[in-house]
Amino acid sequence: MIITFATQKGGTGKTTLAITFANYISTISKRKINVFDFDYQKSFYQKWKEDELLDLPKLYDVEIIGDEVEQPFSDYETILDLKDNDDINLFDLAGTLDAKYSDLLIYSDFIIIPFEYSDVSAKSTLVFVNFLGMLESQAERVFIRSKYDKGYKYLNQEGMDAEIQKYGTLLKSPVFKRNCLQTINTRQLNYEQKYAVRNSFNEIITCINETLDTNI
Ligand SMILES: Nc1ncnc2c1ncn2[C@@H]1O[C@H](COP(=O)(O)OP(=O)(O)OP(=O)(O)O)[C@@H](O)[C@H]1O
Ligand SMILES: [Mg+2]
Repeated sequence: MIITFATQKGGTGKTTLAITFANYISTISKRKINVFDFDYQKSFYQKWKEDELLDLPKLYDVEIIGDEVEQPFSDYETILDLKDNDDINLFDLAGTLDAKYSDLLIYSDFIIIPFEYSDVSAKSTLVFVNFLGMLESQAERVFIRSKYDKGYKYLNQEGMDAEIQKYGTLLKSPVFKRNCLQTINTRQLNYEQKYAVRNSFNEIITCINETLDTNI
């Protein structure tokens, strides 16, 4: 299966969530996890390389995609193979829309879309959702409130939630703004980090299992 972390707004927490999700899922699923860094900034890959210095076992491999070829998935075989196999194939994308992402966005099983309630972020999220619609992407859209501040009253939350739910699943549990999520590594989650993502990620896993009628 293919699970892609994407949206067209930079800095919303895609890479943070992709890393924590990869770590989290590796502790609860027996399936092989493969990570593909499809962002020219290569934040996930660089962190994973850097973490070689930690004296901790590797949970998964991370591969860079799209550095050499314009359209890495133009031969649909590769992408359909990733989609059809039992491995959990995770993609981390850049915060800008690019035509090179089209095939992946069309064929992903799930697109995890982190968003915030600022006016700019709200607008970008809806632009991204429209883009997925134009591509006729088959993916289940999963929206996750990212860097959520518990003590803050978001004025546009109600309207935004209503709009978003027309396009996919909005997770009930947000991922709160937490200092512990600024110091993650690709080898393990500490207790505090696991606690910070647990509720939202369990919802994602339930959504995956129900949508694909499987047990990951
Ligand atoms: N839940 C959170 N609590 C606190 N800080 C967070 C949280 N999620 C992400 N951050 C911080 O926000 C910044 C941006 O996060 P991240 O790099 O994951 O976003 P991104 O969407 O991948 O960005 P880009 O579009 O540049 O790839 C980072 O400094 C990260 O540590
Ligand atoms: Mg990123």
